[in-house]
Amino acid sequence: MTGVSSDVVRVDAAPLLAIDGLTLERGQSRILDGVSLTLGRGETLALVGESGAGKSTIAFALMGLIGRTEARIAGKMRFDEVDDLASLNERGWSRLRGRRIAMVFQDAGAALDPCYTVGGQLVSVLRRQLGLGKREARERALALLEGVGINDPEARLSAYPHELSGGMQQRIMVAIALACNPELLLADEPTSALDVTIQAQIIRLILTEIRARGASCVFVLHDLALASQSCDRIVVLYAGQVMEAGPSRGILENPRHPYTRLLKSCVLEIGTTTLDPPEGGVPSYDDMPAGCRFATRCPNALQRCVAERPPLAPEGERLIACFNPEPRS
Ligand SMILES: Nc1ncnc2c1ncn2[C@@H]1O[C@H](COP(=O)(O)OP(=O)(O)OP(=O)(O)O)[C@@H](O)[C@H]1O
Ligand SMILES: [Mg+2]
Repeated sequence: MTGVSSDVVRVDAAPLLAIDGLTLERGQSRILDGVSLTLGRGETLALVGESGAGKSTIAFALMGLIGRTEARIAGKMRFDEVDDLASLNERGWSRLRGRRIAMVFQDAGAALDPCYTVGGQLVSVLRRQLGLGKREARERALALLEGVGINDPEARLSAYPHELSGGMQQRIMVAIALACNPELLLADEPTSALDVTIQAQIIRLILTEIRARGASCVFVLHDLALASQSCDRIVVLYAGQVMEAGPSRGILENPRHPYTRLLKSCVLEIGTTTLDPPEGGVPSYDDMPAGCRFATRCPNALQRCVAERPPLAPEGERLIACFNPEPRS
């Protein structure tokens, strides 16, 4: 299924999360093709790549939100003592989801239930997941709202989501995700629906809360510069394949994979931290090259790249899947 060896991707003895050769197929389309990555305890990792790369698919698979009838999943997702998340049944997931692995979704307005007050939603999570009594759950909910920077939390508890601004809704989502002190937080483009100043506040808030808890975080981001500022490590994904992974600063300063370089040049050309998809777009999942999926758009492509998949090979602290990478600077 993949040429990636688990020895190659392991960066520490016992990472919290180790994904090894994750492949996910919907019908004829192989959406994820042998994705391998690790996440250490207390580490923050950014999944970066243009639209359709499979970033959310990875996050949803890690939350157990992709049904067995919906897609075929192969490979392994080891989380702490759980050998493979994909083999858990609903009962197993109910012990993990929301408790040990939580998610902040992209669009808080859509993710929050419009029929229930903020307090009702937060209190019900605390009662269900932690078995707290009504009064205790309410007190905890107030403290959580205060923790995520909500003014007058008492009044906000009785507000409905539509009565709050987008930034406030996203803070509530963060509070709900953090309610059970998860060991792993998945943040799927948590700020893409917000304006730039609020974006920075929310990302800072998530990082602060994650660090205070010693938890780990997978951020899904479009933006290479933002990823590099926010996270310890970056995994660059293209059409369901990992192209390059390593410490954030090195990846931004000296991208070795031609796709990472393309992402970087986009950020710099536009002169903002908003990334437009590079010209051409991700090819159709029904018609992918057998080798490197980036080969059809790659300025460095060799003949072998189309037919043969470059292994994700270590180079210093980095992993690069390329037969003809950019020179080291
Ligand atoms: N429920 C679904 N059914 C069928 N195909 C899907 C489904 N969800 C995602 N896909 C396809 O899987 C591929 C990867 O999608 P995914 O949402 O993971 O990408 P992404 O990297 O998160 O993109 P974006 O940056 O736009 O959010 C896309 O081609 C998408 O069309
Ligand atoms: Mg997505």
